[in-house]
Amino acid sequence: MASSSANSSDVLIIGSGAAGLTAALNLADRFKVTVLAKGQLNEGSTAWAQGGIAAVLEPGDTFDSHIEDTMIAGAGLNDRATVEFVVEGAPAAIERLAQLGVPFNMEGDARHLTREGGHSHRRIVHVDDATGWAVQEALQNAAVAHPNITLVPDMVAIDLATSRHEERYSGAGNVWGVYAVNRATGRVELYTARATILATGGAGRTYLFSTAPRGATGDGIAMAWRAGARVSNMEMMQFHPTCLYNLEVKNFLITEAVRGEGGRLLIPDTGYRFMPDFDDRAELAPRDIVARAIDHEIKRLGLDYVHLDISHMGAAFITHHFPTIYEKLLTLGIDMTKEPIPVVPAQHYTCGGVVIDLDGKTDLPGLYAAGECSESGLHGANRLASNSLLECFVFGEAAAKHIAKCWDELPAPPPIRAWDESRVEDSDEEVVIKQNWTEIRRFMWNYVGIVRTTKRLQRAQHRIKLLTEEVNDYYGHFRVTPDLIELRNLLQTADLIVRSALHRHESRGLHYTLDYPETLPVAVDTVLVP
Ligand code: FAD
Ligand code: SIN
Repeated sequence: MASSSANSSDVLIIGSGAAGLTAALNLADRFKVTVLAKGQLNEGSTAWAQGGIAAVLEPGDTFDSHIEDTMIAGAGLNDRATVEFVVEGAPAAIERLAQLGVPFNMEGDARHLTREGGHSHRRIVHVDDATGWAVQEALQNAAVAHPNITLVPDMVAIDLATSRHEERYSGAGNVWGVYAVNRATGRVELYTARATILATGGAGRTYLFSTAPRGATGDGIAMAWRAGARVSNMEMMQFHPTCLYNLEVKNFLITEAVRGEGGRLLIPDTGYRFMPDFDDRAELAPRDIVARAIDHEIKRLGLDYVHLDISHMGAAFITHHFPTIYEKLLTLGIDMTKEPIPVVPAQHYTCGGVVIDLDGKTDLPGLYAAGECSESGLHGANRLASNSLLECFVFGEAAAKHIAKCWDELPAPPPIRAWDESRVEDSDEEVVIKQNWTEIRRFMWNYVGIVRTTKRLQRAQHRIKLLTEEVNDYYGHFRVTPDLIELRNLLQTADLIVRSALHRHESRGLHYTLDYPETLPVAVDTVLVP
């Protein structure tokens, strides 16, 4: 095995979404930064975001109100200091995005603010109903133009390079970069840096039905766990109440802003509006409550879906506010200005993740994390709508600032061993990967979904154990491929979710179990220690 530092930079960032690119832009005036993406640069969740970004921008609104709404949605599991840090950082984050060219919708001289569930005030800035696309484009254009940022698409990180991979083995636990497979060549390359930031997004694809893009396989969470970092609150998987029900298009989100602007949830045959029976805030209750109510009605009445109807607001209003969704639905034969939209809940967001502090630091020296792969304490047991992109901007910047502040104390990477492929061969059983991938997603949906029981969780755990043996055996014998890397991470993440869910003996926020329906008086994080 030879040492290799061919791909060396000051800071390595894994992920080119809102969190990764924000960090890169905040570092690049001083440091050489490399950003890896496992597919094209805009294939993460960021580009798919619809509703917008929450920020207190109007005289009648207050930080206290945004903080309170976040804590209520999060069922008290949030870390108040983190909530304050993020909420108070929001207006400046929006201003920087505007300076980068994000064309937020305006109303006269002020930004137009829409409303979403759980917010007691209109406070969501947006770019029509395709906010994420505009944000990704602005960040990406700025990153491409910066001479100190090297963007590397199609480079799939496998595992962090740590002290264990030093040529002179050390148990110090430092992170020195990552091993990654190049999709074009199939070869494994080593990327080293003084500091590494994980910005790899969520793990939504652990579930059969998810609004998240295909790459949301929990890679960063799994890599950090394997390297020795703690993960927290993985049982808090968020289900969005309104994903389009369509047999061909399985993961198209209908933004919560549709409900914010007057959309109502109805039983298909009778047109009965059921949400007021479940919560005084009706369609604008936090997501966990609305998703559970829909799930309840679907199961009680044997339905395939419920209806989301905003046609009463008129065609001009609808096409002005939701042009992207309107056009997309028309291609599927649904005219939302005249008829209701069939919707079902689907996995949407990973609230848990790698434990970080207010500087974005993980447990491991040299390793930071930001965005959906992290657990900062912001979301608690259920994320408030449109707080996620915000978290990416605030923590992307916080991690960058901390690296800059501590730069002189960060040691340079020692010689690291190259990837060892001497004992593996090419796989002749690719079908196993596809089969296992589908199996995991199916039992996670059926046994670890919106409503849980201990027995169902144990069933899932049993299957995870069997599959882990199979996948580890496969991993030990065959050359890594992007699909195998993702399968291994999907399984690792599923294991963390189920272990966390079994550990929580109460129902709180997104974790609802028939065996422990009560909420305990004190909110305690689930923290798994490797
Ligand atoms: P992502 O944007 O997901 O980026 C992940 C990056 O990591 C990608 O570049 C990917 O290639 C890279 N990566 C992953 N694994 C590897 C690997 N092994 N090797 C190399 N690179 C890797 N939030 C809001 O606040 N407002 C909204 O309106 C909103 N709408 C949403 C709509 C949809 C349909 C979805 C799915 C989510 C929405 N969210 C919204 C959530 C929000 O979009 C995400 O939480 C946020 O964009 C995550 O950003 P990120 O930078 O953490 O990760
Ligand atoms: C949406 O537009 O409904 C998604 C908003 C979010 O995930 O915060």
